[in-house]
Amino acid sequence: MCSHISSDRVSLIVDVDTGIDDALALLYLSASPEADIAAVLCTAGNVPVDRVAANTVAWLDVCGRNDVEVAVGSPVPLVAPLMTTEDTHGPLGVGHAVLPVSTRIPSSRSAADAWIELTHERPGELTGLVTGPMTNLALALRKDPELPHRLRRLVVMGGCFHHPGNTTPTSEWNVAVDPEAAKEVFDAFSAVPPERRPIVCPLDVTETIEMHPHHLRRLSESAGSSPLEDLSDDQPRGHRSSASNEVVRHLSDALRFYMEFHRDENIGYLAHVHDPFAAAVALGTVPFTTRAATVDVEIDGRLTRGTTVADRTGMWGRPTNADIVTRTDPEAFFDDLIDRVGRYVRNLKALPDTN
Ligand code: BDR
Ligand code: CA
Repeated sequence: MCSHISSDRVSLIVDVDTGIDDALALLYLSASPEADIAAVLCTAGNVPVDRVAANTVAWLDVCGRNDVEVAVGSPVPLVAPLMTTEDTHGPLGVGHAVLPVSTRIPSSRSAADAWIELTHERPGELTGLVTGPMTNLALALRKDPELPHRLRRLVVMGGCFHHPGNTTPTSEWNVAVDPEAAKEVFDAFSAVPPERRPIVCPLDVTETIEMHPHHLRRLSESAGSSPLEDLSDDQPRGHRSSASNEVVRHLSDALRFYMEFHRDENIGYLAHVHDPFAAAVALGTVPFTTRAATVDVEIDGRLTRGTTVADRTGMWGRPTNADIVTRTDPEAFFDDLIDRVGRYVRNLKALPDTN
């Protein structure tokens, strides 16, 4: 099936583990007139949850969005001990970037309560976009099993199906961090009608979203930043940007770390930017195809814990609970990202302090 969620305004609850590519997703959303961000919720994943929250408020400030509520979630997964991945995202989760410390205090409500309360306030209006482990959403579902019926749609970055994992040979990071949460979410969405089924953006597709130095260069050009960003493999590790545009400068410092990580993993001097792709799917600003399936998560396997399994032909005899993204046009995605982010940051003025 060829899909586009919508072309109109999309109101979002965004749940992140910021994270370099989460940060780019937040920037993409900030730059998108289609996006109405109701709240950004923080989950433990790439880095511990307090660090995720600090990164998220600091980055939203840099992106001119200090008006957006940020709520903090559970510091640990439902069952598993927390694992974090500073190797991938840097000691603080934003690569080599040093973000200005925000004076903003996160919301007094928990991330799980925010899921529940926002969907009560705006039933049928909000699209959930989860680009981290699904812990917060699972906790909300335990308290309020009717929640899936109040969401307009759910889009998750997570899982892999006919593709190797990036955490174990068969598991993707967001699912591997909290497999029980992912399972509970997929189970809970088995009862929703087809038009509300979760859209799953797995590694099979998000690893085709390869950001190369030339994309960053084009973005800096589109932002009117100087000198143009020119990241390359032969520069010293951790070389810092001197871009005139603050957003470009921090983004470049973050992405450099991500590219160095991918190079160290023998993938090349590039970065898989999973999460902004999921954001574009949620906004309907990128073409993609999907295939319906019943998705479940292995939580017991000695070798396969955290593996997402898709039944595409009804062998299990269970309801379909996901539309899995199978294909997209990566260059159309980058053209759009470069254009909208470039134009946005070119004209960005610092917002007044809201505290
Ligand atoms: C996912 O894992 C995280 O490290 C990234 O932010 C992305 O959400 C990719 O597996
Ligand atoms: Ca993420």
